[in-house]
Amino acid sequence: MKKVLVTGGAGYIGAHTAVELIEAGYEVVIVDDFSKSDRTLLEGIEAVTSRKVNFFQGDCGDEAFLKGVFEWAGPFAAVMHFAAYKSVGESVEKPLDYYRNNLGSLISLLKTMKVFGVTNLIFSSSCTVYGQPDTIPVDEATPFKRAESPYGATKQMCERILEDAYSRGYRVISLRYFNPIGAHPSALLGELPVGTPNNLVPFITQTAAGIREKLTVFGDDYDTPDGTCVRDFIHVVDLAQGHLKALEYLSAVPAGDLCEVFNLGTGEGVSVLQLINKFVETTHVKVPYSIGPRRSGDVEKTYGNVSKANRILQWKARFSVEESLFHAWNWEKKIRDIKN
Ligand code: WQD
Repeated sequence: MKKVLVTGGAGYIGAHTAVELIEAGYEVVIVDDFSKSDRTLLEGIEAVTSRKVNFFQGDCGDEAFLKGVFEWAGPFAAVMHFAAYKSVGESVEKPLDYYRNNLGSLISLLKTMKVFGVTNLIFSSSCTVYGQPDTIPVDEATPFKRAESPYGATKQMCERILEDAYSRGYRVISLRYFNPIGAHPSALLGELPVGTPNNLVPFITQTAAGIREKLTVFGDDYDTPDGTCVRDFIHVVDLAQGHLKALEYLSAVPAGDLCEVFNLGTGEGVSVLQLINKFVETTHVKVPYSIGPRRSGDVEKTYGNVSKANRILQWKARFSVEESLFHAWNWEKKIRDIKN
């Protein structure tokens, strides 16, 4: 059975991807330092798949730790690298932590992969690499503009590192996510922000659950139909399946050079206020909110042209935004033990 190393696999997207890999017949090894996660999603993976997860706790920036994992749990057919800090807002507050962690973990991983002759890498990139695009939807050929946040800048730099690494024999696919939301339909896995959520949907569901008094909408004076930012919200399971398709594509391409990027989104733009209204219409639960100032680092509007992934990876997002919000709410109710 092919074995895949999943870094950051106790996190939101990594854990959902681990489920899809296991269900597709891969053996998965997970590393995570629990800086932004805990064992909950590892237990969720085991609950959904009825398979024990092979897990090592440690920092991907620590080459000695990674070397031990490769020695002990390898050989790996491929690596999926999710381990990174990912909050736009937090990266503005703590830029140096983001540069050190996001770049350091990738470099440490690439060096360790080289030692063990592992060349296949699927990298968790982001639509934030485009900055504020001049035209939307953005496609993969859209040139990078200055990233609006240190988080986006780390993803731009990581993609450049991978381009240079590719010329040294690595085979790389970078997946540029738009906005991952929702939870596994089983409600055994979902988003588990540590502390106050940075992202919109977990803040909505925690407000709906009464954990947060109200949601603040960061700005309604943008150049958009209702003045609030526009995003491409994609179900986390659709995103996870995009990784599986990318792995299959990587495995199918004969040995040799490969360095590809794909947008993974729905191709549809939805505003913050539209999302709040869709949540209320879908769940019939109120979400008190007020309009506050803009959040620095935010892109005004973006959504993806995803035709390349549709065509080459034979992948397309299936869940609607309403289904994503319904699953997100089911997960919130599950972890808060809310019955109705
Ligand atoms: C979305 C919109 C906020 C919270 C995310 C990931 C990032 C990347 C891209 C993968 C913005 C507004 C938010 C709140 C609000 N994905 N908002 N009130 O910043 O687009 O980035 O997707 O790599 O990793 O973090 O997502 O959910 O933080 O914000 O009004 O309490 O919601 O201003 O316009 P973002 P987000």
